[in-house]
Amino acid sequence: MFVIAGVTGRVGSAAAQALLDVGASIRVLVRSDDAAEAWRLRGADAFRVDLRDGARLTEALRDAQGFFALLPFDVAADDLHTHAQEFISSMAIAVQDSGVPHVVMLSSGGADLPADTGPIAHLYALEQALARTDTVLSAIRPGHFQEKISDVIGTARIEGVYPVFAESADVPVAMVATADVGRVVARALLSHPQSSEAIDVVGPVYTEREAAGMLGELLGRPLEVITLPRAAWVPALTGAGLPLQATELMVELYDADQRGLLAPRGDRTVHGAVELGSTIARLVGVTG
Ligand SMILES: NC(=O)c1ccc[n+]([C@@H]2O[C@H](COP(=O)([O-])OP(=O)(O)OC[C@H]3O[C@@H](n4cnc5c(N)ncnc54)[C@H](OP(=O)(O)O)[C@@H]3O)[C@@H](O)[C@H]2O)c1
Repeated sequence: MFVIAGVTGRVGSAAAQALLDVGASIRVLVRSDDAAEAWRLRGADAFRVDLRDGARLTEALRDAQGFFALLPFDVAADDLHTHAQEFISSMAIAVQDSGVPHVVMLSSGGADLPADTGPIAHLYALEQALARTDTVLSAIRPGHFQEKISDVIGTARIEGVYPVFAESADVPVAMVATADVGRVVARALLSHPQSSEAIDVVGPVYTEREAAGMLGELLGRPLEVITLPRAAWVPALTGAGLPLQATELMVELYDADQRGLLAPRGDRTVHGAVELGSTIARLVGVTG
């Protein structure tokens, strides 16, 4: 039996469904009765737990063959570092105490670096904490999620603008669909590896201008691509309602990206096949 966190989210839901599709037995970790009921109807066992509750998580992991772990990012948390540390401590304790033999963790490109990567430094800390336990760790390190485009769909639809937090909109960037990442997670769980490894997951390559073109076509209006210079990032993000600490972490992340710090450097690389056009079509509600 595999225990899967984050099943109301993007990667966790794709991983859980991929496992159900091959007849694997899964227990999903949820925080609401609605989510529990929805997954029971799909054939999963459901267990209510907050990932920051180490004792209850230990209970959920007993007798599991593998655990899919992720570190949720909550911009509304009072202190993002303390918030991340609560998840890291709880999950590391539960993994050690339950004796679960294999953990597949949703990490990120750049999580081999301890600092200067914004929220990815928390994923570095989680990788390190899990590596100190007795489990075998498969760290899944995707690059940019294609679904990040959902952040700009509202602005594009209403204002006809596609903002880019970089000096150029013409830099080729690998963008991976979370459905592909979920399938990599499921395969990793089913493989029962004997040793730990870091697996980079990269998708097809696009420029932001190409992404804007695809989105504009699906919305039925041309979009003006606006590149935001670094000095404009803080006012743009705080103006959109992001708290200051989260804004500072995002700026550090964008800087890291521009410096090439998020590039694949794991033990091997897996390629996602889903094209950005079909992801955007799904996000805007057009059958693609
Ligand atoms: N965006 C990118 O380009 C990118 C690239 C690489 C890696 N990543 C990493 O991917 C991760 C996010 O993955 P995702 O997009 O699949 O997640 P997501 O869609 O944001 O979903 C988050 C999941 O975490 C659950 N969750 C939140 N707080 C919880 C808690 N206290 N206890 C238990 N469950 C909790 C949520 O459940 P509820 O419904 O109960 O809230 C939800 O199922 C982050 O660590 C991020 O750094 C992102």
